[in-house]
Amino acid sequence: MIAFNLNGQPVTTEAEPDTPLLWVIRDEFKLKGTKFGCGIARCGACTVHLGGTAVRSCSIPVAAAAGNDITTIEGLAPGNDHPLQRAWIAEQVPACGYCQSGQIMTAASFLANNADPSDAEIVEAMDANLCRCMSYIRIKRAIKSAARILREEA
Ligand code: FES
Ligand code: FES
Repeated sequence: MIAFNLNGQPVTTEAEPDTPLLWVIRDEFKLKGTKFGCGIARCGACTVHLGGTAVRSCSIPVAAAAGNDITTIEGLAPGNDHPLQRAWIAEQVPACGYCQSGQIMTAASFLANNADPSDAEIVEAMDANLCRCMSYIRIKRAIKSAARILREEA
């Protein structure tokens, strides 16, 4: 049995230790905000936080979560009002929406370590999160806006 915290709640799973964390999150705990895209750590659709750091849940085993804190898009902020989520709405970022939770989780981890990023730093940090709808300009704008909100609220 593997025990970890999922969005602040202690959980256990009897999944095989090498089961990708993504499938435990989606299939066992029914948190469907985290998406499957490529399955090989290339697109970022499955991004969650492991101890506050963005990781690709399709490509890490659930055993890596043991004793750790896992945060999904559903647990990023109570009320779904993280500055990134507010900025995402204000900037009307999503098109189809499929990649968006992964984008937001990557951005949240990035902003936690860089409160005032340059455009180039944002592009570099988000480079490996793909969006087939090409919403990259709005993503960058929303991240800058969220950074501003975070600084103002600090
Ligand atoms: S589904 Fe995990 S990186 Fe693409
Ligand atoms: S909004 Fe459609 S894949 Fe990004």
